[in-house]
Amino acid sequence: MHLLIEGGNKLSGLVTIEGAKNAVLPACAASLLTDEPVVIHRAPPLRDVRTIIAVIEELGKEVTYADGTISILPTGTLRPRASKEHVERMRASFLVLGPLLARLGRAVVPLPGGCTIGPRPVDYHLQGLRALGARVREDEDAVVLTAGRLRGARFRLPYPSVGATEQLLMAASLAKGETFIENPSREPEVLDLVELLRKMGARIEEDEGMLAVEGVDGLHGAEHAVIPDRLEAGTYLIAGAITGGRVTAAGVRPAHLAALTAVLERTGARVELSGEAVTVEGGGRPRPVEVETAPFPGFPTDLQPPLVALLSLAEGGSTVRDPVFPRRFGYVEELKRMGARISVSAGMAHITGVGDLHGAALTSPDIRAGAALVLAALAARGESRIDGLGQLDRGYAALEGKLKGLGAEIERREDT
Ligand code: EPZ
Repeated sequence: MHLLIEGGNKLSGLVTIEGAKNAVLPACAASLLTDEPVVIHRAPPLRDVRTIIAVIEELGKEVTYADGTISILPTGTLRPRASKEHVERMRASFLVLGPLLARLGRAVVPLPGGCTIGPRPVDYHLQGLRALGARVREDEDAVVLTAGRLRGARFRLPYPSVGATEQLLMAASLAKGETFIENPSREPEVLDLVELLRKMGARIEEDEGMLAVEGVDGLHGAEHAVIPDRLEAGTYLIAGAITGGRVTAAGVRPAHLAALTAVLERTGARVELSGEAVTVEGGGRPRPVEVETAPFPGFPTDLQPPLVALLSLAEGGSTVRDPVFPRRFGYVEELKRMGARISVSAGMAHITGVGDLHGAALTSPDIRAGAALVLAALAARGESRIDGLGQLDRGYAALEGKLKGLGAEIERREDT
């Protein structure tokens, strides 16, 4: 399958935003912490969501998924081993490690492989679980963790890693005694997991920049609607800016999008906030800006590729540095094939804005890079073909339908 996009239309209208994929994935992992039902609402129809469902089914849950609701029930047996196939397909499958260890005293989970956004180690996850009392060894391609009951501890994350914070929150919730996670991630998706864990009976407090977890003996079932997907919303808002149109993302939390809307305003786009909606109106060529990604509330690394697509059309030179994932620039070669002038060195893109881009045949290397290529194609002269939809479909539900609703000319076609 590939996408064909005829660029040049100004996108205008309203797009309804799904629940956050990156909140659903840890929520499904958290269901392993209890034998009672966990129900997750607003789960988007995405490949990654189906992958995490397959992972927890394999580990012993019975799952139904319909109309955005995932209902997770126990089958009676919780198994400690996740298969390589799943973890290879999606790195977030590694999040089952902490819950399995806390419940069973043993977990065997394959190491996530390399990834197109650069090396993504799991050393902080393992250091943190070690601090809680886990013994860690590697067995072929998997890590094997064993422990008696986990013990609360004080652990300082070397970097506020999203996944490591989630892993430790889940494990510490069932540990004996209190755990202090210093330098935690404070991304909205992490705080959404905190909310779900609290509903399940976990005792978690935010305390002077730390997350303090008072372990409990058992957790119960819960029902939870995840937060809106700020990355999906951000992508559609940039679509409004890059095409010189006017796009409203509805059903969002504007505070989660503040770093993006501040940058879009600096590029000259008009931003309107009203309740649960954000509107971005582009017009004329964007002004150049200098941006650096950072943990929340900074500019999100996931919106770095879409932003670079926008700045490739700016009136002047911009720089975008991504210290979170310094190698997340693989898609730049594709943008250059559309006429963009960008050079990348040491985790920073130097972008010399051009007056226009032209259509080209492109391949999407990862989810957000794919979004950048779609945005560039929407703004370009002529037709673009985008292959590698498996990646885009991991993160964007009903992409063509939503873009068509905003006035884009876009079709999904079978490869012939
Ligand atoms: C999450 O990945 C997201 N995934 C990513 O979104 C997102 O890009 C990333 O956070 C940053 O915001 C999910 O939530 C499922 P990290 P995660 O651990 O948890 C280094 C998308 O497009 N690090 O915060 O894997 C790491 O290499 C995906 O939806 C270590 O060195 O990110 C990176 O440089 C792609 N050792 C930095 O920390 C570790 O043990 C941030 O990674 C862990 C991380």
